[in-house]
Amino acid sequence: MLKGKKIVVGVTGSIAAYKTPFLVRMLIKEGCEVRVIMTPASKSFVTPLSLATLSRNPVISEPFSASSGEWSNHVELGIWADAMIFAPVTANTLGKMVNGIADNFVITAYLSAKCPVFIAPAMDLDMFNHPSTRKNIDILRSYGNFIIEPQIGELASGLSGPGRMEEPEKILAIFKTFFGRQNQLSGRKVLITAGPTIERIDPVRYISNFSSGLMGVALANEARSRGADVTLVTGPSHPLTVAGGIKEVKVESAEQMFKACMKEFPRVDYIIMAAAVADYTPVKTEGNKIKKTRENLSVDFHSTTDILKKMGQTKKAGQVLVGFALETENEFENAEKKLKSKNLDYIVLNSLRNKGAGFGTPTNKISILSPDGVIHKGNVKPKEEVAKDIWDIISK
Ligand code: CTP
Repeated sequence: MLKGKKIVVGVTGSIAAYKTPFLVRMLIKEGCEVRVIMTPASKSFVTPLSLATLSRNPVISEPFSASSGEWSNHVELGIWADAMIFAPVTANTLGKMVNGIADNFVITAYLSAKCPVFIAPAMDLDMFNHPSTRKNIDILRSYGNFIIEPQIGELASGLSGPGRMEEPEKILAIFKTFFGRQNQLSGRKVLITAGPTIERIDPVRYISNFSSGLMGVALANEARSRGADVTLVTGPSHPLTVAGGIKEVKVESAEQMFKACMKEFPRVDYIIMAAAVADYTPVKTEGNKIKKTRENLSVDFHSTTDILKKMGQTKKAGQVLVGFALETENEFENAEKKLKSKNLDYIVLNSLRNKGAGFGTPTNKISILSPDGVIHKGNVKPKEEVAKDIWDIISK
């Protein structure tokens, strides 16, 4: 599965660098081509000679060699690689990756990557638990990098807690799963919606909801990384990091989302409606700002088109239709009703009663129902991980 894959291994200055030679050796045994790049500090923990010998390639740690005048091209390395793995990664390097501080060869290569990037942090537990480290990890994840979370255990300081770099065997297993999934959706066409819609009341006011769009974007990015041709229809949300190659269609209202979706619907194989579409829209949008002339104000609303229901009524054999249900009570019962009434293949249930689930959070906790009943119950995880679970199930 990994045979012939071109892997860049980046090493930074942590005691966990003693594990990197094992990782390099395993990748070589799997038939990968490996190029190791090192920060100056990492050389105090593991020697370039060991890594050059094991990887069967010279190690690069300087942008150019003063003696030979030779320049090491990080851009070429970024194009060459099928994947980059940075292991171990210190708190210092995490911060540089987040901010693009390209003061060593490892960071220039990271910034030049055109391939999937895996990051395996390693540090003492207090550094790992510091809000700045947690924030940096979240930001790197939102950039589309794959974070290999450190394990809990005994640390070099003698303390015990999270911070141990993941074991090379596990990192190899993560690689195998990743490359196994990589072409799983190639040739498949996918339509995903994300974020809220907004319904205008007058030129300065609207009605909307708290959806961030994170779940839909994570699903779109995951589908893209599995080789799908992805169209993402997004309502107005904060700027989100959408992977390259995804066709993004920006809309504002439920009506616009309906039109954008129906245009794509006939040609797609998978549809995931993760958007929080408004159920009601004002009967009339005022042309001028409503003035404060009355004690009470009421606005009349009429219902919007239920996009998912419409698709369920007209879907063709082979099309997989997935809805979301955000519930606050009688969760499973309500989700099952939606699954049936909208003629869905799957419904992803998230409950606002679960901490770390639903709107606005970077994490989610979901269950998946099919016409056969509840087929998955997950834990609280980053939305990127939840997206993987959803795709694993619906693309079986
Ligand atoms: N949905 C849709 N079009 C709408 C409303 C909802 O396509 N006008 C989709 C959502 O994207 C989601 C699913 O239907 O995938 C369920 O949405 P939800 O708001 O949970 O349920 P509703 O059917 O709107 O019912 P209720 O608001 O009463 O729970």
